[in-house]
Amino acid sequence: MSFNKLSLLCTLPLLALGANIKRATPDEFGLYGYGDGFGGFPLFYADGYAYLGEPASSNSSDPAVVTFSPSGSGTSQSWIGNPNTTLTNYTVSWSDVTFAVPSNSASDKRIQFLTSNDTDSDMTTTGFYFYGHTAFVIEDGQLESPWYALQVSERVHALYWNDTSLGQVPVILRNIAPSNPGSVPGISTEE
Ligand SMILES: *[C@@H]1O[C@H](CO)[C@@H](O)[C@H](O)[C@H]1NC(C)=O
Ligand SMILES: *[C@@H]1O[C@H](CO)[C@@H](O)[C@H](O)[C@H]1NC(C)=O
Ligand SMILES: *[C@@H]1O[C@H](CO)[C@@H](O)[C@H](O)[C@H]1NC(C)=O
Ligand SMILES: *[C@@H]1O[C@H](CO)[C@@H](O)[C@H](O)[C@H]1NC(C)=O
Ligand SMILES: *[C@@H]1O[C@H](CO)[C@@H](O)[C@H](O)[C@H]1NC(C)=O
Repeated sequence: MSFNKLSLLCTLPLLALGANIKRATPDEFGLYGYGDGFGGFPLFYADGYAYLGEPASSNSSDPAVVTFSPSGSGTSQSWIGNPNTTLTNYTVSWSDVTFAVPSNSASDKRIQFLTSNDTDSDMTTTGFYFYGHTAFVIEDGQLESPWYALQVSERVHALYWNDTSLGQVPVILRNIAPSNPGSVPGISTEE
C-alpha cells in the first residue's frame, strides 16, 4: 500500500475502523434501547414512527415489534422492517418498511419508517452500521449515533434523531436483548 493510500485511510475514521473490525450485520435482528431508565426496551413500529417500549401500550391500531433485515452492503446499507412474527399474532397493515432518520433540514426529528418506494429528501435511509452490537449511521464518513427518546405515555417512548428540544434523553440502540428482561439495569456493557 502506498503512503498516500495509508494516510488517506487514517484520516477517515470509518475506513480506519473497517480495516480493523469486521462485523457482519445479522440477517435478522431486533433493536433494543438502552439508557438511563431504559433497560432494553424493544423498538416497535406504530403509525409510521419508531418507538421504544411496549406495543400493547400504544394507542396505534397496528403497532408491532420490528424485525429488521439488512438490504445493500457496505456504507449504503438500509434496514428493512417487518413485524416480529413471534410476538405479533395479529394482522398489521404494514410490511417491508424502510428505517429512516431525519436529515438536518427536517423539521420533524422523529425516526420514521417509509414504505418501500417512498422517497423523502428529508430522510436518510442508508448508511446504517453496527459497531459491535451498537447501531450507528454513517454520515460524511463518521459514525453518528445521536439517538434520543421522549416518553409519550406509560411504556411508550418516541425515538428521535439529534433532538433534545422537548427534553429527549439519550439512548443507545443495540441488536441484543437485555440479559435480564424485566429489570432496568441501565446501560449494558456486554458484547
Ligand atoms: C422476536 O421476538 C422474540 C421474542 O422476544 C425474540 O426472541 C426474537 O429474537 C425476536 N426476533 C428478532 C429477529 O428480533
Ligand atoms: C398469541 O396467541 C396465543 C393464542 O391465542 C396467546 O396465548 C399468546 O399470548 C399470544 N401472544 C402474544 C405475544 O400476544
Ligand atoms: C416498488 O417499485 C417496484 C419497481 O417499480 C415495484 O415492482 C414494487 O411493486 C413497488 N413496491 C411497492 C410497495 O409499491
Ligand atoms: C395517541 O398517543 C399520541 C402520543 O402518545 C397522542 O399524541 C395522540 O393524541 C393519541 N391519540 C389518541 C387517539 O389517543
Ligand atoms: C445535529 O444537529 C446539529 C444542529 O442542527 C448539526 O450541526 C449536527 O451536524 C447534527 N448532527 C448529526 C449527527 O446529525
